[in-house]
Amino acid sequence: MLLPTFLGLSVLSRVGLCKLYEDVSDLPGLHYDFVIAGGGTAGNVVANRLSENPHVSVLVLEAGPSNIGVLESEVPFLSTQMFLDPTYSWNYTTTPIPGFNGRSVSYNRAFILGGCSAHNGMAYTRGAAVDFDRYAELSGDARWSWNQLFPYFLKTEKWSPPADQHDTRGQFNPHVHGTNGPIFVSLNGFVLPFFEGKIIQTTKELPDDFPFNLDPNSGNELGVCASARAL
Ligand SMILES: *[C@@H]1O[C@H](CO)[C@@H](O)[C@H](O)[C@H]1NC(C)=O
Repeated sequence: MLLPTFLGLSVLSRVGLCKLYEDVSDLPGLHYDFVIAGGGTAGNVVANRLSENPHVSVLVLEAGPSNIGVLESEVPFLSTQMFLDPTYSWNYTTTPIPGFNGRSVSYNRAFILGGCSAHNGMAYTRGAAVDFDRYAELSGDARWSWNQLFPYFLKTEKWSPPADQHDTRGQFNPHVHGTNGPIFVSLNGFVLPFFEGKIIQTTKELPDDFPFNLDPNSGNELGVCASARAL
């Protein structure tokens, strides 16, 4: 049976209080300063930010079940199993795609607290500068541009050593990462055996086709790099 999740956030003192409910009858009340529909990546960030004000109470509503104790969500390489499990999926498929010979393909959107951040393998990516600049152009609002959003990317991030404590110099660009934010970001704490070195070697032998990209979180996403993860 699928259970909806309710995440109640209310900050009564300087210590934040947060509680998860799985039945509406368990909620301590039905009056909140803010009710957020959708406990995915955006909803939870907005809830967390609002609840920094100690006088504010917030209720987050999520259609899917709780993510607590869901091993496939916690272990990055298991997250693809969630794509196939209808318990954690919205079961979307695309309309027939002409360039795909008319086939429909499954389009995985997570049905669980945390939304797609619960099944994305903990990959950390900001998107491409050209996309943000296009939002700015289409909306006529320069605040959507890469340059104006960039300080906020840094503000949300805390660059951290990888699990194996290996020396990451030369594997990322420190100028495009923040050090004081709430989201811990790092590089893999392991080397993928055999092929990781071969893939980087390809960037030396065929740089036109496979350019080396030191850090795809710089706004330029194209190329081959070591991958960043949120911890
Ligand atoms: C996805 O499909 C399964 C199997 O038909 C169903 O049990 C489940 O409720 C569906 N999930 C959603 C979010 O609709």
